[in-house]
Amino acid sequence: MARILGIESSCDETAAAVVEDGRRVLSSIVSSQFDVHGKYGGVVPELASREHLRAITAVVRQAMEVAGCGYGDLDAVGVTQGPGLVGSLLVGMTYGKAICYSRGLPLIGVNHIEGHIHAVAMEAAGRLEFPALALVVSGGHTHLFEIEEGFRYRLLGRTRDDAAGEAYDKVGKLLGYNYPGGPVLDALSPYGNGRAVRFSPAKMKGNALDFSFSGLKTAVLRWVEGHGMEEEIGRRKEFCKTNPRPSTAEWLELTPQATLDLIASFQYTVIEELLRRSEAAGEEIGARSWVVSGGVACNAGLRDAARRARLPFPVFFPTPALSTDNAAMIAAAAFVKYERGEFADFSLKAQAGLTLA
Ligand code: KG4
Ligand code: ZN
Repeated sequence: MARILGIESSCDETAAAVVEDGRRVLSSIVSSQFDVHGKYGGVVPELASREHLRAITAVVRQAMEVAGCGYGDLDAVGVTQGPGLVGSLLVGMTYGKAICYSRGLPLIGVNHIEGHIHAVAMEAAGRLEFPALALVVSGGHTHLFEIEEGFRYRLLGRTRDDAAGEAYDKVGKLLGYNYPGGPVLDALSPYGNGRAVRFSPAKMKGNALDFSFSGLKTAVLRWVEGHGMEEEIGRRKEFCKTNPRPSTAEWLELTPQATLDLIASFQYTVIEELLRRSEAAGEEIGARSWVVSGGVACNAGLRDAARRARLPFPVFFPTPALSTDNAAMIAAAAFVKYERGEFADFSLKAQAGLTLA
């Protein structure tokens, strides 16, 4: 049995978790910085590092307490090495190194994207068949990977510009909703007609499995400019100032039907893009299962569409708590390396642009 403490601090969540044998989650604590960055409409790197510094000790302590263990009961510490914001990554990594140094524990560097994949793999343990196709969709990534037995990765396609979550957040901001826009637009989509505004699908030169979302974002902007929406957008922005977390009912009050149709059409187009390319990638590699992970994997429309698509392989989504950034997924990914004896030394560096394959 191996008990691993995972630490995640790559973006705007400070998280720690204790996971046994890569699948039994003894604790998973996430402290989010939404309220700090909300008023800026996106993550401010300097503020993020400062907030991680403030939160890290309490978050790690709580993870250990909930798991009911002391540092002496741990077998290793897994830390997110990248990709992410360097200032943020450094906080979790330095904390992890300090624990390892003082307790003589092995240190394991984990790729954040691999962590997202393991959020699903640990829940689907035993049922995942290889080769598997992984779609990692979050605020920072939209990647398709082939996963071979033993968790070896091959990159099949990636976004050439915005990540899907980033497109959600930018469109949300453009329409006057608060940060992050993804969950808000997802909650409003069922109230609109997804076929009302026809956005053209992105045409990719070269690798047909690559994604592009910046054209769609610009198309939404053009639509907004052409439909005199300044007043309603202004009303929503004003409302956010005094209500940092409006409910879906409150947003509905502030959103005319034409805007709901626009939102539903945006969501419909994003989901079409994700499904179409995943299906093609699955066919290309002869996938025997499909793993969807990252913050956008919370999207109810995507989950529904993936179920209805009747793909020739089973689809695995993580439970929503494990979809967005957390440290249980880092500890689970670290376990695979623990078993292989892939340990890091104290020269391990935070890498903003770390790639998986
Ligand atoms: O994985 P994550 O927590 O952080 C990154 O690694 O980026 O993902 C956060 C992203 C944000 O862009 C957020 O808007 C998006 O995931 N997101 C969603 C939903 N929930 C979170 N996007 C669409 N629909 C959702 N329900
Ligand atoms: Zn993430």
